[in-house]
Amino acid sequence: MAKKLYIKTYGCQMNAYDSARMADVLAPLGYAPAAAAEEADMVILNTCHIREKAAEKVFSELGRLRPLKTRKAAAGGRLILAVAGCVAQAEGAEILARAPYVDIVLGPQTYHRLGEMVAQAARAGGHVLDTDFPAEAKFDFLPEHAAPQGVSAFLPVQEGCDKFCTFCVVPYTRGAELSRPAAAILAEARRLATQGAREITLLGQNVNAYRGAAEDGAWRLGRLIRALAGMEGLRRIRYTTSHPLDVDDELMAAHRDVPQLMPFLHLPVQSGADRVLAAMNRRHGADDYRRVIDRLRRARPDITFSSDFIVGFPGESDEDFARTLALVREIGFARAFSFKYSARPGTPAALMPDQVPDAVKAARLAELQALLAGQQHAFNAACIGRTLEVLFEKRGRHAGQLVGRSPYLQAVHAPAPDRLIGALATVRITEALANSLAGELAGCVAEMTA
Ligand code: 5AD
Ligand code: SF4
Repeated sequence: MAKKLYIKTYGCQMNAYDSARMADVLAPLGYAPAAAAEEADMVILNTCHIREKAAEKVFSELGRLRPLKTRKAAAGGRLILAVAGCVAQAEGAEILARAPYVDIVLGPQTYHRLGEMVAQAARAGGHVLDTDFPAEAKFDFLPEHAAPQGVSAFLPVQEGCDKFCTFCVVPYTRGAELSRPAAAILAEARRLATQGAREITLLGQNVNAYRGAAEDGAWRLGRLIRALAGMEGLRRIRYTTSHPLDVDDELMAAHRDVPQLMPFLHLPVQSGADRVLAAMNRRHGADDYRRVIDRLRRARPDITFSSDFIVGFPGESDEDFARTLALVREIGFARAFSFKYSARPGTPAALMPDQVPDAVKAARLAELQALLAGQQHAFNAACIGRTLEVLFEKRGRHAGQLVGRSPYLQAVHAPAPDRLIGALATVRITEALANSLAGELAGCVAEMTA
């Protein structure tokens, strides 16, 4: 009888991708997806360590899962409980000490060995802890036959980060930068397109640091994007997340020349104050960021931006924070993510003097978020009356309605027939809601039959 697998995913798109691949790795062992943890024979928590209270959330979730395990054992069965992802990488031994009923702890670099770990856990009944950074690349060991991802698919091209921003755990949990060879990425893209993907988002913790082996030397991201742009079936290309320092001329040129590369870029700046940026070890100043934005706007005049901000980094003064607000006003973001600084154990900033009181962080965050929400709202409202190209992904909440994304990554819903799922259509925008746009079908640019 088929066994059931339930995966709960926290955090970034890379984690979402990893979760799907874990399901692929376990499929040959007879695991089919479960709708809820209650009906599963195996539960994986794929965790994120980037901000506040990550580990505590995992322990409380494990506490909730424990009775399921006891119940299953009482009925003569077994629930295998696994913790994966960045909390597992950072706190592997601690997890097994505090929650000894956990069967498997695995880091983000070892999930291609998950089958083996499950067998081991089943045999021995003990724990398996695998948080290595193995010499072999996990991507080379993943099954060929992955479950289709749908119209919009993620494709990891590099993993890890060598930047060591002083607030960030990624270089420790995901390890050193590692780029996949160009040929492997193109092969995966071809497979995704054959399975119906019309949009591919290239993923990496520092995606534009990509340097992938190819027959004619190392390819940078711009080159890879050009190669993907020629691929049958693919209509749209995006990439995330980037670092301002790694926007090179080739990538700039790709934004200018490749129409499939969408005019929307998530480019985190974190702060608008040089002092803070230096303490963060971002290796660029606020003006360097402004220059990159200007060049991108010249290359692709309709481009819009999103960013990440941290408020209350150690030592951030009122004046520093005012510089962040000034930068936001000046650039204008279509959307953005902003966070209170959270001291992550093991990172240099956690030990810095002048930690900012929480009340100050909260006040700054509220002010910044009000400004950013206003910009997002203004950008969305300015879309009313415009006709935007929408790639329809799935049915909407209401009957007869589809939802898709605009070039600027806004969710757009419109009355449309099911056959337009996977099609690029033009939609006249009639309404801007808090987090999405509504519109009417104006025409069909390209109807693809998968
Ligand atoms: N505290 C607050 N925000 C953080 N981020 C990363 N580390 C921290 C931290 N310690 C934010 C950054 C990054 C985003 C993914 O999460 O803004 O770009
Ligand atoms: Fe973390 Fe991004 Fe800095 Fe790398 S570049 S250390 S992933 S914030």
